[in-house]
Amino acid sequence: MKPKPKVYLVGAGPGDPDLLTRKALKVLESAEAVIYDRLVPAEILALASPAAMLVYGGKRQGEQDLVQAEIFDHILRLAASCNVIVRLKSGDPTVFGRGGEELRFLTEHGLDVEVVPGVSSATAALALTGVPLTYRGVAASFAVVAGHRQNILTIDWAAHAGIDTLVVLMGVENRELIAESLMRAGRPASLPVAFIERASMERERFVESTLGEMAAGMVEVEAPAVLVIGEVVRKRVPIGAAAEAGARK
Ligand SMILES: C[S@@+](CC[C@H](N)C(=O)[O-])C[C@H]1O[C@@H](n2cnc3c(N)ncnc32)[C@H](O)[C@@H]1O
Repeated sequence: MKPKPKVYLVGAGPGDPDLLTRKALKVLESAEAVIYDRLVPAEILALASPAAMLVYGGKRQGEQDLVQAEIFDHILRLAASCNVIVRLKSGDPTVFGRGGEELRFLTEHGLDVEVVPGVSSATAALALTGVPLTYRGVAASFAVVAGHRQNILTIDWAAHAGIDTLVVLMGVENRELIAESLMRAGRPASLPVAFIERASMERERFVESTLGEMAAGMVEVEAPAVLVIGEVVRKRVPIGAAAEAGARK
């Protein structure tokens, strides 16, 4: 009888293969199938067992629900023939990207699931570029916010304006609206902000500005990027690849 299949919901970290956990590497090496997301780089996929079937599960713009249904379908079909399936997501699998929904779906369908936590871009992007997430006397609280339209139009910005450090994922496209919303909620135009583009990957870039400039459309930046808003940006000690590139806007 075929053993019960096991699905590992694995975090791939922000991109640099050296930021994978040992456990993530171990399960990749034993995987028979890997279903991976858009932000997982080829260097990490190359660490999977050469025998593993690699399946792209990235979301297509505007078709997220359809693709999610396809992924669910795919995992269930793979479970009929494979014993070890890796569902590989960027960063930490429980931070955005529907990791929680996938965990619920798979367990509800009787699969044995284990979560392998990953290094989230929400903290790693700052750490890699020398921005402290908290700083004694400057920032004692932080929050991570989804910057996609659906969230930023419904979020309670007044509540978030009281948090010292705001980290926004998926916020590149709506950066002006995010800045306007925070200024309306009482944050000053002079508040420092920074984008960390492609953290830990080739062409990592650090772009520093202010909330006012961001609201005025003066910040040029490309996804994927982590946006950090708060006084901690002034406490940055420039380190990492982005410091060498020395970008400002
Ligand atoms: C769907 S969310 C997934 C987040 C992921 N689970 C995590 O913990 O990092 C995708 C967003 O994460 C951020 N992101 C992920 N990897 C990144 C990287 N290497 N550099 C900058 N931003 C990154 C970007 O804001 C991107 O739009």
